[in-house]
Amino acid sequence: NGVITIDPGFKNTGSCESAITFLDGEKGILRYRGYPIEQLAEKADFLEVAYALIFGDLPTKEQLEKFHADIKSKSVVDDDVKKILDAFPKTAHPMGILSSLTSALTAFNPSSVNVDSEEDMYRAIVKILGKFPVLVAWTMRKKQGLPLNYGSKSLGYVENIMKMMFEQPNEDYEMNTIVKDALDKLLILHADHEQNCSTSTVRIVGSSHAGLFASLSAGISALWGPLHGGANQAVLEMLEAIKEDGGDTKKYMAKAKDKSDPFRLMGFGHRVYKNFDPRAKIIKKAADEVLNNLGVDDPILEIAKGLEKEALNDPYFVDRKLYPNVDFYSGIIYRAMGIPVEMFTVMFALGRLPGWIAQWKEMRLNKEPIGRPRQIYTGETERSFTPIENR
Ligand code: CMC
Repeated sequence: NGVITIDPGFKNTGSCESAITFLDGEKGILRYRGYPIEQLAEKADFLEVAYALIFGDLPTKEQLEKFHADIKSKSVVDDDVKKILDAFPKTAHPMGILSSLTSALTAFNPSSVNVDSEEDMYRAIVKILGKFPVLVAWTMRKKQGLPLNYGSKSLGYVENIMKMMFEQPNEDYEMNTIVKDALDKLLILHADHEQNCSTSTVRIVGSSHAGLFASLSAGISALWGPLHGGANQAVLEMLEAIKEDGGDTKKYMAKAKDKSDPFRLMGFGHRVYKNFDPRAKIIKKAADEVLNNLGVDDPILEIAKGLEKEALNDPYFVDRKLYPNVDFYSGIIYRAMGIPVEMFTVMFALGRLPGWIAQWKEMRLNKEPIGRPRQIYTGETERSFTPIENR
């Protein structure tokens, strides 16, 4: 009707209809394709959850085997990608590297761009599910000065990711099942979250019919920010800073509440969850279990628990309905697994990959129009050009 309503941050704007993820922020409910997140985190493995997100239902054994075989057959990355990786400075953030390499994959796989049929889409999807973990592992290994590898085709999807990341030269690789189970859980909990910033980015870039890999690369950039996926790195850095500063959580609580101080309690608050984040509940329990099982005594876990307790009893946080989110405890688990802090958001991207893919596929199959929000213009009205010497 020509009337434009402004909704900064799209707080009350729906951008699409979607059958992928159901979220009730008041009740703290999260379901992928109808399956409660608690059941998936407890019973499923990451690849079957990825399948359910992308294709609608949990797979049969045969479907899952075929899917995994197709992914494995497409996992080789062009050797020239190593040259690109070589060109990054040592100080480059892994998220910047990952976003660039994901976009670069388009150049090596041009047939992944014009995907009009479901068959074309399937080919692009298994390619990226095969190659993305390789990029993740290589990004980490390159920074650590370790040789690049491919893991082993006889392993499960997550097991192979671990082998690619953690295998050391001249050492027999032994998989730690505690770490494997925890990683499966973390990846599942991050796998989709309806129309968040990075997912909306993937959908909107994809709506121009840019290719899947270019759309994902944009999503990775969106995820990088500390208000979104980058919060997991920011949380750990914050907890570390509090520890270094003598563990005075009250001081940081006061900073977070001080409106003249830009500091926020990282890992707290959520646009949609106003009661609790069901993912955080599961992750907090997992952090306790993993650290116990691995025999890790991390003083940062105690600081995190202390902060949470204070915040949950503080009127500032209670009034604003600010609760720990998915990122508050995840970094503590990643650290116990031996993953460098800078890689935490990359791990989030690895988990979110199937969600982004599912949302992109849904958007294309629904033939959604190009994303093109409107605005209300607030600039100058018409004025005449002044030659530069008269300005
Ligand atoms: N610490 C202190 N105050 C906060 C925090 C926080 N973490 N989060 C929100 N507030 C305050 C904010 O200052 C505002 O106060 P007031 O009403 O007095 O102006 C009020 O709470 C509402 O905040 P908002 O910024 O308007 O809420 P939003 O829905 O736009 O932002 C958020 C949501 C997640 C970006 C925000 O809570 C935040 O910055 N949290 C810290 C970063 C973080 O943990 N991000 C991860 C989010 S979950 C995973 C993901 O999305 O990737």
